[in-house]
Amino acid sequence: MLDKLKEIEKSALVALQSVKDQAALEAWRVTYLGRSSPVMQVFSGLGGLSKEERPAVGQAANKVKMALEAAFAERTEAVKAAMLARSLEEEQLDVTLPGRGIRVGRLHPSTQQLRRVIDIFAETGFQVYTSREVETDEENFQALNFPPHHPAREMQDTLYIDAGDRGENPLLLRTHTSPGQIHTMREASSKNPENPPPIRVVLPGMCFRSEQITARSEVQFNQVEGLAVGEKITFADLKGTLSDFARRMFGQKVRTRFRASYFPFTEPSAEMDVECFVCGGAGCQVCKQSGWLEILGCGMVHPVVLENGGYDPRRYTGYAFGMGPERQLMLRYKINDIRYFWGNDMRFLEQF
Ligand code: PHE
Repeated sequence: MLDKLKEIEKSALVALQSVKDQAALEAWRVTYLGRSSPVMQVFSGLGGLSKEERPAVGQAANKVKMALEAAFAERTEAVKAAMLARSLEEEQLDVTLPGRGIRVGRLHPSTQQLRRVIDIFAETGFQVYTSREVETDEENFQALNFPPHHPAREMQDTLYIDAGDRGENPLLLRTHTSPGQIHTMREASSKNPENPPPIRVVLPGMCFRSEQITARSEVQFNQVEGLAVGEKITFADLKGTLSDFARRMFGQKVRTRFRASYFPFTEPSAEMDVECFVCGGAGCQVCKQSGWLEILGCGMVHPVVLENGGYDPRRYTGYAFGMGPERQLMLRYKINDIRYFWGNDMRFLEQF
């Protein structure tokens, strides 16, 4: 019996040598330490032995069982260590490989320029106010002193919306941001009609005109409108604010000039030019040899417009201006075709 136990131990240990993974480990444990394994059989056979034999065989069987358990534990550790080593070897990461690039989005160049303009006016004390893109004829034109059939409407070819017969007040896509002046004034004055508060706002947003699409004209473009209304606001405030804007936007040394112009909703009206920042005023292709670039339209808010906004023109005055961020970008970057802005060509957009 004792020889048999030696035999059992030996063959179990030999078998354990070839165990290389978890599954084999488990199979070995069942075979050599399980309920019906040879050692366990010896234990259950103890009853059939003589009193003299029993203790020695029992002790020897116990020793074998403990030896096998110890060998099994050792082997289990070894298999685990080997598996870890193998997975470290096989699943190696090359941390020096370049990562997968994440494509980061960016703002449209027009939005970037709109924000530059807004930032400057925000520093000067203007609030940002957004106004609707679908307007009535009343707000886009009439309240701004363009009566129905007035020839000044020819300046802004209009996209109308088919909304049934609305007589002289059809719906349309705003042709400029100037109707925002009316909305702002009406909103402010309705809160306190006897004593409307002063206003200083900029109104950015998309405008639409029924244009033949060419390198110089598009059916959609952004504008930034500015409006200041209060007591004792003068043309000097208009000139000072806009000249300061030009210096902040185009450089501290840039010169500006105001040329008389006409808009129905401002009186007097002007256009502001900045000294050509491409050639410094010497004359080049961008400024068409004039040395000046036209940047915006402006003027003192017309008394009729103040009245329509709920501001008494005998007490209040104001100024307004409107500029186009796409035009500013075209001048700055010598972009020779306005169609790039809404053409969705990544090769253009990615340059900003
Ligand atoms: N709304 C005018 C345009 O689109 C620009 C403008 C705004 C002029 C405000 C004067 C004052 O041409």
